[in-house]
Amino acid sequence: MNKYLAKLNYLHTKINTEVLEKYAQKNHVPIIEYDSLTVLLTIIKICKIHKILEIGTAIGYSAIHMASCKTVSKIDTIERNKSMYEEAVKNIELYKMQDKVKPHFADALDIELENLDHDYDLLFIDAAKVQSEKFFKRFLPLLKEESIIITDNILFHGCVENRENLSKNVSKMVEKIDQYNDFLANLENFETIFINIGDGLAITIRNK
Ligand SMILES: C[S@@+](CC[C@H](N)C(=O)[O-])C[C@H]1O[C@@H](n2cnc3c(N)ncnc32)[C@H](O)[C@@H]1O
Repeated sequence: MNKYLAKLNYLHTKINTEVLEKYAQKNHVPIIEYDSLTVLLTIIKICKIHKILEIGTAIGYSAIHMASCKTVSKIDTIERNKSMYEEAVKNIELYKMQDKVKPHFADALDIELENLDHDYDLLFIDAAKVQSEKFFKRFLPLLKEESIIITDNILFHGCVENRENLSKNVSKMVEKIDQYNDFLANLENFETIFINIGDGLAITIRNK
């Protein structure tokens, strides 16, 4: 993180999540990288996003930041790990975002869709990387026509591009991420912009 830019950005957001960043680092919780977060928040602000569905809450870091954007009125965020979910609930209260952020303790592939809305402006996919395509297909019907889908970690620390010396497990995961990127790149009626920022972001919009 560029501390100089973080300080300037803080002048607008007034949200200091250093304590969450430290917790994540200490406890090896993967949270969105700062540069990717700034792109995500920029899109939310420019596109005046109201409703967000997030897959993968972890400790609530990205949800709290997204909720700090003035246009955002509601975020549903799904987490399957009990202790992460409980930490997120605590943090959402700590940052007084409980009116905007609704955490769901569930596996995103099993959650009852009746418990979610059907008019999201933004889908943020940031959970198990091998399941991104399933998340995309499952939650697409809950999005508005003019919505945006953002997927994090599409480069997976450079491993998708350079696959030498990877363990069998990482190799498998990286293969899945590559397949997902290919799926996005070739998806009919959609356009995806792949950005080399943070751990790699894919921004998908519907063609008009
Ligand atoms: C990269 S972290 C999310 C980080 C968070 N979005 C942030 O930037 O602050 C991914 C989280 O997704 C959760 N997860 C993975 N697969 C999931 C699934 N199928 N349903 C719900 N949560 C899932 C993991 O338990 C983990 O906490």
